[in-house]
Amino acid sequence: MQLSDSTPLCAEAVAHPNIALIKYWGKAGDLHTNEPAVASLSITLDTLQTRTRLTFDAALESDTLILNGQRDERRLPRISEALDRLRALGNTSLRCEVETENNFPTGAGLASSASGFAALVVAGNTALGLELSLREQSMLARAMSGSAARSLFGGFARIALTEALNPPDPTFGSAYAQPILEASHWPLEVCVAVVSDREKPVGSTEGMELSRHTSPYYAPWLEGNNRDIEDAERHVRARDFEALAELSEFSCLKMHAMAMASRPGLLYWHGTTVTAMHEIRAMRAEGIPVFFTIDAGPQVKAICAPGYGDQVAARLEGLPGVQSILRCGLGEGARIV
Ligand code: PMV
Repeated sequence: MQLSDSTPLCAEAVAHPNIALIKYWGKAGDLHTNEPAVASLSITLDTLQTRTRLTFDAALESDTLILNGQRDERRLPRISEALDRLRALGNTSLRCEVETENNFPTGAGLASSASGFAALVVAGNTALGLELSLREQSMLARAMSGSAARSLFGGFARIALTEALNPPDPTFGSAYAQPILEASHWPLEVCVAVVSDREKPVGSTEGMELSRHTSPYYAPWLEGNNRDIEDAERHVRARDFEALAELSEFSCLKMHAMAMASRPGLLYWHGTTVTAMHEIRAMRAEGIPVFFTIDAGPQVKAICAPGYGDQVAARLEGLPGVQSILRCGLGEGARIV
């Protein structure tokens, strides 16, 4: 493809957020390489999605970002930085118009950065004719947002540090995600209890750096990770819901405990978050196969065994303070549309 051609280079991609069951919180090395300090394991959702159209055009003087139909200057610097990585690979200086839509709240702990940067990489790869492998795309997405590496894949995916490239690739770095089980092989259901659609007060990069430098629980957090990721992968492959439930809640609570012990403490939960956690535990005690996980925001994600979504959604919907329930199944990886 001729990148100097005056014809605009366009592509459109769709990607879904993913939810980590074994959490990523902490960076190794500098912020530019964005290598994770821990391995993670996630499920990719289906109904929530980011759709992104890129137009690299010689007629543009600067990058523009249109998010949900509105010009967004605040998020533009981070997007331009991501576009610079694509431009460096395509050996071009063409500016780009990024039109992106999320069908769910942005920056509210619903993993919009995961789906957003996965869609950006996949669209950029096609628009600029980069012909990157899925692994390279996953690494590129990881450099933009750690969790985005996992949204390249559907179903269950993991970032295993034991498999990270050593020495790092000069362009792509070390860590990448890999699929471990297809969605259709264990179609879990997810009910997201939306507690607030306001943007989170402390973003994940800032929060992770704070925990790395100040939390007394950061070292034990790193130490326990290898075991968690190995056990989780085994439970996923065995489709052992009960074991995965116990381990996922452990990883979630451990991450939040470590983050809360940062200085100043990171407190992403609201009162309703805790109410929903108790309700989910009560349901499990009654024999309903469901567990919770929570990211850098107040929303509670209830992960249910296949067939239990309706029951769980009805129970969570009735809780005071729950604004709405988003229903999802497990979905596909990022793709061109
Ligand atoms: O990828 P980031 O920088 O948005 O960080 C994601 C952090 C968590 O959502 C809290 C955990 C995870 O593994 O997704």
